[in-house]
Amino acid sequence: MLLHLCTWAEVEAYLKNSKGIVMPIGSTEQHGPNGLIGTDAICAEVIGREVGAAAGAMVGPTIAVGMAVHHMEFPGSMTLKPSTLLAVIRDYVASLAEHGFERFFFVNGHGGNVPTIRAAFYEVYAELRALKGANAPDVRCALVNWWEAPGVGALSRELFPGVEGSHATPSEVSVTQYAYPEAIKSAPMTPQVAPSGGFHDARDFRRRYPDGRIGSDPSLARPEHGRRMVEAAVAGISDQYRRFVEEA
Ligand code: NI
Repeated sequence: MLLHLCTWAEVEAYLKNSKGIVMPIGSTEQHGPNGLIGTDAICAEVIGREVGAAAGAMVGPTIAVGMAVHHMEFPGSMTLKPSTLLAVIRDYVASLAEHGFERFFFVNGHGGNVPTIRAAFYEVYAELRALKGANAPDVRCALVNWWEAPGVGALSRELFPGVEGSHATPSEVSVTQYAYPEAIKSAPMTPQVAPSGGFHDARDFRRRYPDGRIGSDPSLARPEHGRRMVEAAVAGISDQYRRFVEEA
């Protein structure tokens, strides 16, 4: 069930049986020579929606722009400041909590979002306590990064041994190729496997990683690999969702 394709009456009926909701969150940022700008949002949305279908869960609107300040030297990248993203997450959760949702299960597609998502959860908890103290609703928020789901790492090592890297990875590019075969791009990779390491700010990122990749060879991406990635992620994450909503 997708929230934006439901009527209010359907949401009201759903809440009689479940307080859980899947919240896809991604990013809109460069993903190397053949990766789509929307890669992280697409991965979170595709996997989050399939988790919802597998677990019978409501799925909220995708938060498609995340914290991507470090990608801003590449055209097309968009970012929310950490404080803005925190406020967006807080308001999404607060408005749904008003209607009775209590278990917020964020399926994340972008590593750069993680600190801010975690901070936002505590912002929500602190605000609810400040407003209602011991009578605050029993709101719980959980975060899963799809690439850390059980089964996904092993599949990546099987399909892309040694060249998964950490940005513009063949795994995430494969997921977008599976989701949008009409938008598959090809481009030369020079060098074939991108350098690995850290970075400071956006200018430093582009200086160290001129084509936008870190440690990866996304020329190995294939839509059929993406299908297997999605299946592995959905199996693992659906189990995590069920445990989260059933937990005492
Ligand atoms: Ni990504």
